[in-house]
Amino acid sequence: MDSSRQHKKLQLNSDLGFLNQLDRFDILIPFIHLEKYLMMELERRNIKVYYQHSRLLITAPVNERPIWAQDWWPSCQILSDFSEAIDFLKSQKNLGIYYQTESDNLSKRIQNRIKNIPLKRIDYKVPHPFNFKFYTYTTIQDQVLFCAQPFQRFPFGWHEFNEDKQTPPNRAYLKLWELLSVYNIVPSSGSKIIEIGASPGGWSWVLSQFAAEVHTFDRAPLDPKLNPIKNIHHHIGDAFKIPFEQYQQCDWFFSDLICTPEKLYETINLWMKHSRIQNYVCTIKFKGDCDFDIMNQFLQIPGSRIIHLYQNKNEVTWIRTAE
Ligand SMILES: C[S@@+](CC[C@H](N)C(=O)[O-])C[C@H]1O[C@@H](n2cnc3c(N)ncnc32)[C@H](O)[C@@H]1O
Repeated sequence: MDSSRQHKKLQLNSDLGFLNQLDRFDILIPFIHLEKYLMMELERRNIKVYYQHSRLLITAPVNERPIWAQDWWPSCQILSDFSEAIDFLKSQKNLGIYYQTESDNLSKRIQNRIKNIPLKRIDYKVPHPFNFKFYTYTTIQDQVLFCAQPFQRFPFGWHEFNEDKQTPPNRAYLKLWELLSVYNIVPSSGSKIIEIGASPGGWSWVLSQFAAEVHTFDRAPLDPKLNPIKNIHHHIGDAFKIPFEQYQQCDWFFSDLICTPEKLYETINLWMKHSRIQNYVCTIKFKGDCDFDIMNQFLQIPGSRIIHLYQNKNEVTWIRTAE
């Protein structure tokens, strides 16, 4: 069923009282403008959506964070009575963070009574020490929806950084900042890295701070700002024609190259076959809609996973690491 048809059907079921009858329900927060992929993913996984709102979905239990969910609130509760909700929220040992879905009176009344942690941009640190436990809640249709233990370490998976607007040549570096800082996927300090599709060099700039050597490949040059960085070795040419035998000492492979998912799949298979590289981080870029079949093909590669980074747009990040 396409998501617009499902949307219409779900609007009919707008009274949330039925949630009280369920053993468990979860809430998923979609990425802004990418809601339809979350709906498609849930449909493929046969996960029932009880209620759809532009800022959240109420669903049957899911057993892992869906790729297209920015956050996952497992085992939620619905609180219908205002004063009971206030008492309940005040009785929690952690502080709460309010997620705005509707600007209704209830949300204002509650926020006047409950101490709320404000959302903060993330400072880039590797590893990031943030380990604060909090609950999340929201209001819909005069009801409070509560989750004691949301999935994401940073509230709502809102991975906005305090950016460096001077040094990197573009904003692509934010994808790697998120991967390193939030997901703690970090090449060790002696690493030797191949990076394809590197120009103008946002990723190369980040990687050069960890690796011993970064061998970058692109049809285009890197931004001259990167010239002083001595462990970046740039090669201009077709990244699909790199001689594997010359890079047998490398241990990480990064790609943000623009190509079809099929071409990327073929390329990483060649590298896995002809090199000793065990660690891969590659952006899978979709031309039109997300291709779930090709994502499944990538996921068949042992030890791999796919994350839709907050900094990814119509693309996902395929990761395979040695550990
Ligand atoms: C999205 S950009 C990469 C941005 C980069 N990650 C950064 O942080 O600056 C994609 C790059 O892929 C390169 N590219 C596409 N096809 C290529 C090919 N066959 N060989 C080499 N580079 C290619 C383009 O020239 C472009 O610079």
